[in-house]
Amino acid sequence: MVIFLTLLAALSSLHVSYAAYDPFLPINLKAPDNSVKATFIPFGATLTNFWTKDRTGKFRDVLLGFDNKELYSNGPDHPYAGAIVGRYANRIKNATFSIPPSEYPIPGAPNTYEVSKNIVSEGIFLHGGFIGYDRFNWTITSQTSSSVTLYHFDPPGHEGFPGSVKVWVTYTLKSGGIWDTYIKALASEKTPIMLTSHAYWNLDAWQESEDILDHYLQINSSKVVALASDGHPTGDIWDVTGTALDFRTPTTVGARIDDSSTSTAPGVHGYDYDWIYDPKPSFQFYSKKSGIKFEAKTNQPCVQIYTCQGFNLPRKAAHGGPTKVYGNRGCAAIEQQSYVDAIHHPSWGVDQIYHPGRDYVWTSSYKFSVIP
Ligand SMILES: *[C@@H]1O[C@H](CO)[C@@H](O)[C@H](O)[C@H]1NC(C)=O
Ligand SMILES: *[C@@H]1O[C@H](CO)[C@@H](O)[C@H](O)[C@H]1NC(C)=O
Ligand SMILES: *[C@@H]1O[C@H](CO)[C@@H](O)[C@H](O)[C@H]1NC(C)=O
Repeated sequence: MVIFLTLLAALSSLHVSYAAYDPFLPINLKAPDNSVKATFIPFGATLTNFWTKDRTGKFRDVLLGFDNKELYSNGPDHPYAGAIVGRYANRIKNATFSIPPSEYPIPGAPNTYEVSKNIVSEGIFLHGGFIGYDRFNWTITSQTSSSVTLYHFDPPGHEGFPGSVKVWVTYTLKSGGIWDTYIKALASEKTPIMLTSHAYWNLDAWQESEDILDHYLQINSSKVVALASDGHPTGDIWDVTGTALDFRTPTTVGARIDDSSTSTAPGVHGYDYDWIYDPKPSFQFYSKKSGIKFEAKTNQPCVQIYTCQGFNLPRKAAHGGPTKVYGNRGCAAIEQQSYVDAIHHPSWGVDQIYHPGRDYVWTSSYKFSVIP
């Protein structure tokens, strides 16, 4: 018995260290009641598949992803699919910030930091830099049939940020169609931290339609972070009342998507905004075709929604790939997060600076169910 247990322990530790070396090893989880199933990979702590039951009780994989796992690192356009994004999600204006934050950091000052301009063509910082959390091989630290914890060490000075960050993410599938995410990060010195989970969803699993225009969205939010034409926050907050950004009553994504207020780049219409919750985070997304619905709760103050404008990526075989592609408006990224670029807008009163004694915690709970 003792020998047997020792062998088991040895096998399970082998399994753990193997995972550290094969970043694409699938980690398959299911809820105890089999209501939802998911697959993750250590590369980027990425969610690659998510199955939930439709109105007829059939499982559908409602997540954009790739069968060839190497596409997560080498694929076209690198859309951060399913990954954890960090150390700082979204944009940092002029790839420069100061601690304490100020609207106009003084170039060269000792408290001013320059981070990578990884979107080289535009000279901007986006989603953690050249090698953000989404491109690191995380280490599995514990695993059961319904839960996994992955760890990543973000070294001092990486991508230009001060100090190091240790980060753990725990994904848990629970009975009743629940997917919980818990992230904890510890900084060695003062640094901005803003993380998110960057999954793209289509609740019909690309079966009844190619896009999400008929999906219903409800966001308990009366405000969005105002954006300039270059996509950076202006510092203003917009009231959405009476605009195509008002989703307080369930409305289809397509109903107003071509309205001029949804334009986030010249000639491009589609949603890509950070909605500020009012104030209790509450969100739902559903399709009357498959009947699949999910509701979200989070400890984050905002949700960024991006409706995949201009997408052209190879699909999983389960979605008709590789001949078919995930196309324009074919999905929505739903990112529970903080205020975009708050480190340039101290007037918002959103403190994104973490340090020893102030740990970072990010949580979300997604509940999947069906509507009649
Ligand atoms: C952008 O950052 C660089 C480097 O810190 C600095 O020299 C430049 O003045 C900044 N530009 C603006 C418009 O703030
Ligand atoms: C992740 O693992 C792959 C395959 O082992 C390796 O090629 C890559 O360099 C690793 N990435 C990082 C950021 O260490
Ligand atoms: C969100 O808004 C809906 C519709 O106004 C309302 O029924 C619901 O109670 C709100 N949820 C929260 C948590 O405030």
